[in-house]
Amino acid sequence: MRKINVFDTTLRDGEQSPGVNLNFEEKMQIAKQLERLGVDIIEAGFPAASEGDFQSVKTIAETVKGSSVTGLSRSIKKEIDASWEALKGGAEPRLHVFIATSPIHMTHKLRMTPDQVIENAVDSVKYAKQRFPHVQWSAEDACRSDLDFLVKIIEKVIDAGAEVINLPDTVGFITQEEIRHMFTYIRENVPNSDKAIFSTHCHDDLGMATANSLAAIEAGAGQVEGTINGIGERAGNASLEEIAVALKIRNDFYKAETGLTLNEIKRTSALVSKLTGMVVPKNKAVVGDNAFAHEAGIHQDGVLKEKTTYEIITPDLVGVASNNLVLGKHSGRHAFKEKILALGYNATEEELNKVFKAFKSLADKKKEVTDEDIFALMTEEKAGEAVKYYEVEALQVNYGTNNIPTATITMRNPQDELVQEAATGSGSVEAVYNTLGRIIGGEAHLKDYRIQSITGGRDALAEVFVKVEYEGHETTGRGTAHDVLEASAKAYINAVNRVMNRKNWTKQETDKIHL
Ligand code: KIV
Ligand code: ZN
Repeated sequence: MRKINVFDTTLRDGEQSPGVNLNFEEKMQIAKQLERLGVDIIEAGFPAASEGDFQSVKTIAETVKGSSVTGLSRSIKKEIDASWEALKGGAEPRLHVFIATSPIHMTHKLRMTPDQVIENAVDSVKYAKQRFPHVQWSAEDACRSDLDFLVKIIEKVIDAGAEVINLPDTVGFITQEEIRHMFTYIRENVPNSDKAIFSTHCHDDLGMATANSLAAIEAGAGQVEGTINGIGERAGNASLEEIAVALKIRNDFYKAETGLTLNEIKRTSALVSKLTGMVVPKNKAVVGDNAFAHEAGIHQDGVLKEKTTYEIITPDLVGVASNNLVLGKHSGRHAFKEKILALGYNATEEELNKVFKAFKSLADKKKEVTDEDIFALMTEEKAGEAVKYYEVEALQVNYGTNNIPTATITMRNPQDELVQEAATGSGSVEAVYNTLGRIIGGEAHLKDYRIQSITGGRDALAEVFVKVEYEGHETTGRGTAHDVLEASAKAYINAVNRVMNRKNWTKQETDKIHL
């Protein structure tokens, strides 16, 4: 079996998905889970893009040791320097540097001649190699580039020290036959191609990212790039979980495998979905809720007689628990701690105490507390803002079909004072948001609101996602509670706290990076 390296870009290309903005704690949680999943390389961000990106790439590089951590940089010396500052504390500092090679990009975006692009690419790889032991070079929009131009530039960047050559389908345009041809042609015609690993990075604009990535692997790619749940710019990137499982299930055909711990897939998918607010479609391959559900009578009959009639992937393979009923209101702290460990969390005593309290309160209201519930409570605790500027202490809503919905809220403000306000609205959620708006002051606009239940059943936990524009900054917020109005209030406050954290943090860090 050929080993295919997995390069995960959920925290860089994935985070470029419209509407997604992960905070520092959320990025750390995802990075740690990617390490558990066993990805070879984590692209943690674009260090030169912002202070926030710089700091999270730096911390991830210093914390994660089981995967190699990389950051993206344009072919600009100042950006390579910023990336070095962010990545130098990692176990295996690795740079991902790119420049576009297609006629469209060179002419209209870069406004450079092909020779200038070659010179720039070679200079930046040489410059990066003075610092980084590992350099990956990407030909942006490779799949719309001239093959002989690619052969020429790739030979030179390998000579300059690049050890991985990535050929992205930046706009999701190529077909399987074409990508197979491209990888074969390049590998056969670049004289020093044996000195590099070739990597594939496909976007999903025509819904072909997984198929194209697998076709590139057939044609010799030794590294595959993508994101969890396929999130990313526009229609997204290739879904890593689909590629890894396809290689596993069809290893008779591909004769290649990844080093992923496949039964961590479902948990990774759920975490990414929860923290990004990007819901996984029910029918999504491998990780969708319906991926293992058999509805039609003929199928059910077949599966009962012999599973393989209609089931090519077992739920256990990707970590979908068949029976995840867990604790109830009589469960003690010890059993709870065991459960948290079994779910893969490393909780501090303080976190454990807080989540245990939340669990007890949930168990009083909900008959069956499932793994999903505990996962939601724990994620909520781990992804909490470093500083909670505002916190809801008490909330009361009066609603009746014949009267005006009114909310009364007591909240702790950034000065640690308790403040109380009341306001009305045309519905209960609006009344809650109008009241919060009065307490917070400033300009806050609700731009999106979504609600879902975490499990089935009338007593399920509610999860609310909002997009709020507060004082000129747009951000998302998330809140989980047993009651939908409380979850709605938490989500709104979470968004406001994120803006305040970001503003405050930016002030402290602005001077650190000089680009
Ligand atoms: O899609 C793309 O071309 C990219 C590169 C920056 C690697 O994400
Ligand atoms: Zn991309």
